[in-house]
Amino acid sequence: MKKRRSAVYPGSFDPITNGHVDIIRRAGILFDEVIIAVIVKPSKKTFFRTPERISLIKNSLREFDLEKVKVVSFSGLLVNYMKEAGSEIIIRGLRAVSDFDYEFQMALMNRKLSGRVETVFLMTDAKFSYLSSSIVREIAGMGGDISALVPGCVARKMRGQIK
Ligand code: PNS
Repeated sequence: MKKRRSAVYPGSFDPITNGHVDIIRRAGILFDEVIIAVIVKPSKKTFFRTPERISLIKNSLREFDLEKVKVVSFSGLLVNYMKEAGSEIIIRGLRAVSDFDYEFQMALMNRKLSGRVETVFLMTDAKFSYLSSSIVREIAGMGGDISALVPGCVARKMRGQIK
């Protein structure tokens, strides 16, 4: 029987954006299972708490009708979570050359920590190249319209939280 290929897409997802959804959709074409792993850093202040980030991701995936996707949280080293998940593929999205330095450093460090993991980079659609969770938080915080940038459930939740 053919081995199921699973990949882990880690990140803060604070909040999930249409750019993340685009990467998840692309990963779903390549892998049998995509595990979205939301980092929990107790020391870091986030806009949404972990359970909210997870439920927004789940609701967004329903909106976009994406299958084969699981959403989990993890803390500590990503390579340790990879072992727990039984996956050796890390998915990361690239938007522009400016992402490269940080992503290159992280991929090589993860490879040093565990020779088994491989990072696969997927390019977002050019229309999302300017999009990030931090920009979404900033625009929403100043009352701007984020409806074209994030799934509907995220836009509604942020509007409700900021009012
Ligand atoms: O969406 P983000 O914030 O760019 O995601 C960064 C993330 C969560 C993938 C990265 O910070 C991470 O993997 N953290 C876990 C800690 C770890 O394993 N660090 C060593 C790898 S550099």
